[in-house]
Amino acid sequence: MVDPHVLVIFGASGDLNTRKLVPAVFELYKFGLLPDKFAFLGASRTDMTDEEFRQRLIYDNEHLDTSNATQEQIDDYAKMLYYADISDYANPEDLKIVRGRLEEIDEKHGTPGNYIFYLSTPPSLYDKIPAALAEVGLNNPKGGGWSRLIVEKPFGYDTESAEKLNDKIQEYFDEDDIYRIDHYLGKETVQNLLVTRFANGFFEPLWNRNYVHSIQITAAETVGVGSRGGYYDDSGALRDMVQNHLLQVLAHVAMEPPIGPDAKSIRDEKLKLFRSLRPIEGDDIAKNVVRGQYVSAKTEAGLQNGYLEEEGVPKDSKTETYVAIKCYIDNWRWAGVPIYIRTGKHMPMKLTEVVITFTNPPQRIFAEMDDEALSCDNRLIIRITPKEGMALEFGMKVPGEGFRVKNVDMDFFYQDLTQGDVPEAYERLLLDAMKGDPTLYARGDSVVAAWKFVDGILEGWKNNPDIPVHDYPAGSWGPQAATDLWDNCEECSWRNPAEAVFENDKYSLL
Ligand code: BG6
Repeated sequence: MVDPHVLVIFGASGDLNTRKLVPAVFELYKFGLLPDKFAFLGASRTDMTDEEFRQRLIYDNEHLDTSNATQEQIDDYAKMLYYADISDYANPEDLKIVRGRLEEIDEKHGTPGNYIFYLSTPPSLYDKIPAALAEVGLNNPKGGGWSRLIVEKPFGYDTESAEKLNDKIQEYFDEDDIYRIDHYLGKETVQNLLVTRFANGFFEPLWNRNYVHSIQITAAETVGVGSRGGYYDDSGALRDMVQNHLLQVLAHVAMEPPIGPDAKSIRDEKLKLFRSLRPIEGDDIAKNVVRGQYVSAKTEAGLQNGYLEEEGVPKDSKTETYVAIKCYIDNWRWAGVPIYIRTGKHMPMKLTEVVITFTNPPQRIFAEMDDEALSCDNRLIIRITPKEGMALEFGMKVPGEGFRVKNVDMDFFYQDLTQGDVPEAYERLLLDAMKGDPTLYARGDSVVAAWKFVDGILEGWKNNPDIPVHDYPAGSWGPQAATDLWDNCEECSWRNPAEAVFENDKYSLL
């Protein structure tokens, strides 16, 4: 049940609104998930009328999926969109313009003064806009309406700034009304990790140090930093991907069973998990963390720039476009189990996956018959993207003489569970914020706990500039040093799928 409300986007002329937010709300509209009284107000510094905003975001927006929509639906949706042209997001005078437009919209659409404010602006404004909203009373609307705040990433730059930002925002909004977005939490397969683990009886007994050899999480991207060099150089892969997305994925893989499916129970367990991560500090940084930077190379798509040749990147930058980490969770369940996390730009394929490698049988009675039987065969591969699903790998006897063992897999495609497409992360997350359900949003304390883990590594890099930034050719799986993190376990190293195979619209990663 979603209350009637107005969704307000600050930074509405930006890329995120065009590519993700307006299209996601359109999907909710098409599926009848919006309340019957609803409107969308964009606010930004571009000079536009309502009509121009609708033209740009609806009729000229290639990201809007109109393939299964009628013209009437498109026009109806367009009529819900409004625009406020402001020059300074942090100035209460400008927010009075927003308030004026909201009053007008409430009157016209019958929305009763319930608002969601979505901050899709430069992060330097994240603490200022809530203060300005409070100045004009929009954090606490008159007439008993509610007001919620969605904050885009990055939430802080390090532990200290994240703590300050929490404090600042919490001056004006209750923690329950603050929604820190991490779009990985909106991905169906990330949520499905919880269902896989806690709705089935047979995974959980194996899900611990007694049966799990290692866990690896990979988020590989084929693209380089493109035109985002300026932003990225200040961030780097550790801040951009690990602090938020990949630690959140790890939390879903490794947390203890929550006592229920509610926001508090799940978020309490995630916090506990972040707190159990063993800090990587001092000499351990060089041993357990590998950073890299892509250099120019030829890929299928042609000759690629190296990171230092990208627009907006200083020629002597040491910012990492790749990072691989070996870490440990110091609790009873995971003591001694190595966790490997890596992410990089300009890798051979776009892929996010989790691989749980199970321990070998205590005795290899078929080992002499076939070399394959020597490796770590039993793996559960959870594909977060693309082609969401999971595969369980195990050894089977090859028909015929002797005992030849071959690795086979049982592969499940998430798509098979639904008639249509798997919903986009932003659809799910926006709908949850509309419903007032923060389960899939990051809580202030766990954002800080995740920063604490990452900060130790950032500090180490800052204090020891001699820790190498390894080159890796654009289009490769990253520096060799990352493979060395696996010590002498050659068979159980990173899973680098060689190629993607599509058959009858099915897909598997070799
Ligand atoms: C964003 C990062 O949060 O996530 C980007 O800032 C990255 O650098 C993107 O490309 C990856 O998201 P996804 O959903 O494509 O894996």
